[in-house]
Amino acid sequence: MPNDYFAGIDVGSLSTEAVIVDSNKHLLSYSIVNTGINSSAAAEEALSEALQKAELPRNRIAKIIATGYGRAAVGAAHKRMTEITCHAAGAQQLFPEVRTVIDIGGQDSKVIHIGQDGQLVDFAMNDKCAAGTGRFLEIMAKRLEVKLEKLGDLALLAEKAVSISNTCTVFAESEVVSLVAQNHPIDEIIRGLHVAIVNRIWNQVQTVGVHGQVALTGGVALNRGVVNLLEEKLEQTLEIYSEPQIVGALGAAILASK
Ligand SMILES: Nc1ncnc2c1ncn2[C@@H]1O[C@H](COP(=O)(O)OP(=O)(O)OP(=O)(O)O)[C@@H](O)[C@H]1O
Ligand SMILES: [Mg+2]
Repeated sequence: MPNDYFAGIDVGSLSTEAVIVDSNKHLLSYSIVNTGINSSAAAEEALSEALQKAELPRNRIAKIIATGYGRAAVGAAHKRMTEITCHAAGAQQLFPEVRTVIDIGGQDSKVIHIGQDGQLVDFAMNDKCAAGTGRFLEIMAKRLEVKLEKLGDLALLAEKAVSISNTCTVFAESEVVSLVAQNHPIDEIIRGLHVAIVNRIWNQVQTVGVHGQVALTGGVALNRGVVNLLEEKLEQTLEIYSEPQIVGALGAAILASK
């Protein structure tokens, strides 16, 4: 039997995904696990889970490409590629009309401009500062004792946003504590935090420019508050896959199949 299946593994700072595709680039299965402290173990766990779901033995995988910040730790990988390349490939496969990809993960955010043939034209990446990443929202959710999954919806329910003057995550966290002490409604503070993160992302988007349709990938695409405010800025609807965290791993799997 030929080995006609391909895998992509994306080891992110927070989550690790594995995707298996066939030679026609059809998605067979995927898995999402927590990265934790051991990137190598997370990659193994994600791959095993995806193989199990696809009911495939490991020797049917012809090629594995690893991506994400922890890609060096994936021992099983035949090749490693950057997240920029893999997110672009994944988004192109899902949404062929998309020319701009915004990926907001737990540790970095990127804006990617892709050309008509899927080639990389330009990109901007922020991996120096938590303020424009999912980490900012995680920290604030914890500080406000609100579930991360609920944060975006609470932002949308608020009638107005309390302005957050500090851009730095550490200072913004202290500011939030003061705002709570001053009896500002929690949902208005949360909306203010969403306005702040979306403004950061928007600045990043503008360095690359908005080209054609726009896809949002990464875990922050699960936050409806960010999606909503970003769509207002863009004046267009974002293309979002039902499992936005797997787009990088899907791209890696697609590239492995070529
Ligand atoms: N259910 C959820 N609802 C809302 N937001 C979520 C949810 N799950 C994850 N997130 C957000 O997604 C972020 C993580 O995204 P993702 O899993 O894409 O990161 P990652 O790929 O591990 O990180 P990176 O690419 O930066 O290394 C979290 O910081 C959080 O803000
Ligand atoms: Mg990621």
